[in-house]
Amino acid sequence: MGAARRPPSSSRATGSDLPNEVRDGQSGRRVAPVAVLEPGREVAVSFWLTFFLVLHVLVAIAAFGPSYAYPVIGRFAQEGPQSARLVARMTHAVQVRVQIPGAIVMPFLGLALVYLGHYRLWQSQWLVISIALYTIAFFYAVGVQTPLIARMSRALARLPDPPPAGGPPPEIGAMARRVRVNGIFLTTLITAIVILMVWKPGNCQGVC
Ligand code: HEM
Repeated sequence: MGAARRPPSSSRATGSDLPNEVRDGQSGRRVAPVAVLEPGREVAVSFWLTFFLVLHVLVAIAAFGPSYAYPVIGRFAQEGPQSARLVARMTHAVQVRVQIPGAIVMPFLGLALVYLGHYRLWQSQWLVISIALYTIAFFYAVGVQTPLIARMSRALARLPDPPPAGGPPPEIGAMARRVRVNGIFLTTLITAIVILMVWKPGNCQGVC
């Protein structure tokens, strides 16, 4: 399997059997406590950890990648009611068919990584904060943003073609502004989670 991925050294402990802090006898520096797994078991854990990590990252790209494209796509909505209808329908379809299913799967893949990587969930602040941010983002997206885009899509579908003189009714403009602000809020939360996932602040790996 080549250079197999090893579970993070600080968390290779099987739980309560290892101390939280181990110091090097000579230098006195803090080093990661390491539990020795049987050789075959370590390879198996590494394989599944890598497998679920690849899935976790792929699903994250599919589920949250489109959010970064919406500000660009959204500009086309200003070209007229037809474009606005298409943008609203497309955004809603991607949310319902790709983003929400991906967002539902994401925590399960994450918890598989917590289990396989022997992370101490409640001692890993980056994980606890990520899960809290994720819960807020998920329910805000499903409970507020997606229904709002669906409502906007229906309102746009009711607009006469050609549009009334004086532009679209003000409530459509107000909805578009709320969609934009909500989008910035959700993308900020997702960006914060990605930073925490990659950085893992406080997670001791190797000598620390
Ligand atoms: C909601 C629950 C989530 C949990 C419990 C969770 C858990 C984890 C864990 C334990 C790892 C470390 C795996 C390892 O390297 O050993 C990880 C990595 C990662 N997660 Fe999550 N995750 C969650 C959500 C997310 C979300 C929403 C995103 C993206 C928006 C994300 C993106 C990533 C990325 C990019 C990595 C790879 C980091 C690296 O290896 O440097 N995760 N996740």
